Amino acid sequence: MIIFIYLVRLAFQFKPYQVEFNYDPGPVRPELYPVSKTLTLPRGWPAKIPKIQSELVVETPQMAHAREGRLQELRATFQVTWRGYRQEAWGKDELRPISGGFKTPFCGWGATLVDSLDTLWIMELYDEFIEAVREVQKIDFTGTEGCQINLFETTIRHLGGLLSAFDLSGGEYYILIEKAVELAEVLFTAFDTPNRMPTPFLVWSATNPDANNHEPSQSSVLAMLGTLSLEFTRLSQITGNDKYFDGIQRVMNELEKWQSQTSLPGMWPAIVDSAIFNQSFALGSPPGGSEELFTLGALADSAYEYLPKQYMMLGGQSKQYRNMYERFVEVAKEHLFFRPMTIGNKDILLSGTVKKTANGVARFSPDVEHLSCFTGGMLAIAGKIFNRPDDVTQGRKLADGCVWAYQNTISGIMPEAFTAVPCENKSYCCWNEKAWYDAVDPVSDPGTVRWGINSERLSPGFAKVKDKRYLLRPEAIESVFILYRITGDEYWRERGWDMFTAISAHTKTQLAHSAIDNVLVPSPGKLDEMESFWLAETLKYFFLLYSDPCVVSLDEYVFNTEAHPLKRPS
Ligand SMILES: *[C@@H]1O[C@H](CO)[C@@H](O)[C@H](O)[C@H]1NC(C)=O
Ligand SMILES: *[C@@H]1O[C@H](CO)[C@@H](O)[C@H](O)[C@H]1NC(C)=O
Repeated sequence: MIIFIYLVRLAFQFKPYQVEFNYDPGPVRPELYPVSKTLTLPRGWPAKIPKIQSELVVETPQMAHAREGRLQELRATFQVTWRGYRQEAWGKDELRPISGGFKTPFCGWGATLVDSLDTLWIMELYDEFIEAVREVQKIDFTGTEGCQINLFETTIRHLGGLLSAFDLSGGEYYILIEKAVELAEVLFTAFDTPNRMPTPFLVWSATNPDANNHEPSQSSVLAMLGTLSLEFTRLSQITGNDKYFDGIQRVMNELEKWQSQTSLPGMWPAIVDSAIFNQSFALGSPPGGSEELFTLGALADSAYEYLPKQYMMLGGQSKQYRNMYERFVEVAKEHLFFRPMTIGNKDILLSGTVKKTANGVARFSPDVEHLSCFTGGMLAIAGKIFNRPDDVTQGRKLADGCVWAYQNTISGIMPEAFTAVPCENKSYCCWNEKAWYDAVDPVSDPGTVRWGINSERLSPGFAKVKDKRYLLRPEAIESVFILYRITGDEYWRERGWDMFTAISAHTKTQLAHSAIDNVLVPSPGKLDEMESFWLAETLKYFFLLYSDPCVVSLDEYVFNTEAHPLKRPS
């Protein structure tokens, strides 16, 4: 018996786990720079990864009733938007939520349609799901001549959306994998460069082979390079074709080699030269010795987010991604995370930025972006799977920092970008009106500063609001959702509902919901923009916050950066 079990185990070990189909239509065209040996997925038995979610909380009938009511309201909000999209922009990239009609920023491949598939499934809107899958079937990813493809956005939205809908629906809709492979073959031509570092934008042509002669970029966005791994890895696992994994693994290997030799060792600058292919690294700082930015916000964010997630996606079989996470997070804790000065002296954290000048001087700025609000959830998850309790603690404080930023505006919504007032001591910090005034304006007299504060409508603790908009972004509710699943603490569900109430009221239009121009005023104006992440991410995280925690458990799925749950090996 023992020998039998051993043999079965052995048989599995020499196959890529989780091969669901052997589907390989072959590359859309021969490669100019093929690899000599394909890097393969780790073939071993998945390692035991500690549980992320808390034990189930026992619910009273009243609690269950209130929770159901919130789910109904969230589903209704989704349905209104979906109907607006279906009526005005069906199959197109984005709905214009005020004027009606559509926009086409992503090659017209139905960004909102593809991105929303898994939300439809999670909300149990199965008729709408089936109708949407039929429409997805009509998209021809190989037939779009001359469109400039954004590798990063198309990978996270379209490829992630298709794979996630496939995983959630139990692998029954085979067409979703056919479409994912059709798209991936087009996207994969981006990796066909002399040093195999992908080109960020590609102009696809089925008829002109010269159009597919790509070069790596001297100024690649870090997030683009580091946010391809989950989707292409999952595709390799499902299809059994290792080449997609090979594509991203070469990039991640270069990031790893360089990690300890950047100008802020442990982190990478937000802009990367990916064309240095005659040096020992394929990646380096951009030429010209310009100022470098180190941040967890725009340009960099999900490159860090994917490190612990990729560890899970590979079944914990490679220490590489754990090491990369641990190396970076210590640096972020020391140099980026800070405690903002708040009325009430809240023990919270925010993530700022470090700029390094050409002559090596490092300058910290307490500049915060809505985009960096994913950080709390990332630390909390990594703290669980790597058994690092301090990361869970700091993750909770970071998530709470974004909750504070929502509470600190009259609309109840955090601005896109603001500057806070950092405390000098993270463990002991008292509100200091003068320090706030100095941060707002270090030169003028208090009367003038007060006038400025009033006219700018700055709330206490905001030194400056660089971008007053709210673009329907999900990062804050994402972290609130994760903290709820990890702790089971109702606090997060209550704060989440405050956020939803504010967002819903201020962004609602006749057709759907819209980005708004100024969260610092009681009645913000609307911008006629609705990116696909409103349905794909923001409403999904709100919905999952009030769902039964067994629905899309964090112990079974990893979410890509566009909130698409992908099944992980267990
Ligand atoms: C890389 O190669 C090119 C062309 O061979 C050369 O001009 C350039 O100086 C090299 N760069 C480095 C950093 O060695
Ligand atoms: C911060 O404040 C605490 C409590 O007053 C004190 O023990 C600690 O030394 C301070 N840390 C720094 C870096 O000043």
